[in-house]
Amino acid sequence: MKIGILHIYLILISSLFTEIVRCNIITLLRRKREGMKEQKIAVIGFGMWGRNIVRNFYNLNVLDIVCDLDDESLRIVKEQYPGVKVTKDFNDIINDDSITGVAVVTPSHTHFKMVKAMLEAGKNVYVEKPISTVAEEAKVLTELAEEKGLILMVGHLLLYHPAVNRLKMLIEEGALGELVYAQSDRLNVNYHKNDRSVMWDLAPHDVSMIAYVTGKNPVKVISAIGCSSEKNAIMDITHIGVEFEGGLIAHISDSWITPQKRVTLLVRGTKATAIFDDTAPTDKLKVYDNFIPANTQNYPLDYIEIEPLKLECQHFLNCCSSGHKARSDGENGYTVVSILEEAEKIMLGSKLEDLNKKDFALSRMKV
Ligand SMILES: NC(=O)c1ccc[n+]([C@@H]2O[C@H](COP(=O)([O-])OP(=O)(O)OC[C@H]3O[C@@H](n4cnc5c(N)ncnc54)[C@H](O)[C@@H]3O)[C@@H](O)[C@H]2O)c1
Repeated sequence: MKIGILHIYLILISSLFTEIVRCNIITLLRRKREGMKEQKIAVIGFGMWGRNIVRNFYNLNVLDIVCDLDDESLRIVKEQYPGVKVTKDFNDIINDDSITGVAVVTPSHTHFKMVKAMLEAGKNVYVEKPISTVAEEAKVLTELAEEKGLILMVGHLLLYHPAVNRLKMLIEEGALGELVYAQSDRLNVNYHKNDRSVMWDLAPHDVSMIAYVTGKNPVKVISAIGCSSEKNAIMDITHIGVEFEGGLIAHISDSWITPQKRVTLLVRGTKATAIFDDTAPTDKLKVYDNFIPANTQNYPLDYIEIEPLKLECQHFLNCCSSGHKARSDGENGYTVVSILEEAEKIMLGSKLEDLNKKDFALSRMKV
């Protein structure tokens, strides 16, 4: 049994390695043939998450420059990444024709302005989730990228998670039967909030992941409620019910105030139920036969452990060199934002006005 699993791993790892080598050779040959420039990436925003993006693009040998407003952040970049340029002014990126792609990792309320400026300057753009908090803006950016023939990719990280991709494969093979229900819980504590609500911070992951694994787009919001621990319009815990194509019902819970972390996705089909637990150190994905009592016949599924963010950054570079649309493209970002915008209206009612007047910070460490 052990040899069997080891054997499968070796085959998977060697085929992955072969694929990486093959892709690199093809990219090199294509670049040579088409006289293409080497990729040079700029990252805007070296905050809590930007640090991970910078690390990954640096390790992929494409990081050219990091932009942040904060002196201390730029000092850390210089110390940790020798040879990488730094700036406080994003116009330095716009004016540098050698920069082929830009990762926008600033707070969500700044995304529209930044992404629009970068697309207008002819740069391929990776923008963190959510692409915007206004559906109309997401549409404008998607159309602009299309018009200019540029890559626009949104950081819907879970679409690049190996276990999520294994689950998608399983669903496509029919192992769960006909899908009836999905439930995504993303509960934790967050001491540094700077979003319109926990829903805007975390639910882009849930909505994009459910749509991806099930192959069904969200159709409408059925219910949306939230609770604000500070009794204002910023919700710390939200529950939304969403109907997906084919009548699949999904329940999505997100929290900034739950001391016991839980990050799970349950997908229930007519035959079996899969549970993806992203906090589990191993065996994150398990399948339970609906007709056999749990814990007797459940089985874990093999997948290759690679940092999802590395795969996501690599995907952006591959899209930039091939011209293929990203798995999480602007359209995908627009679909997610449209649903969350609808949920927010239901959740807040007249309180929406208060939220629209609020000024959010440029860094959540300085709220
Ligand atoms: N994919 C994920 O799992 C994940 C996780 C966390 C955050 N995020 C997303 O990443 C983005 C950033 O989140 P964060 O937690 O790093 O925020 P943060 O507040 O920690 O960092 C934002 C950084 O942007 C910089 N900044 C703001 N305006 C700027 C400007 N005009 N020019 C240059 N720099 C500017 C700030 O100085 C700060 O360093 C958000 O969209 C967030 O939703 C994604």
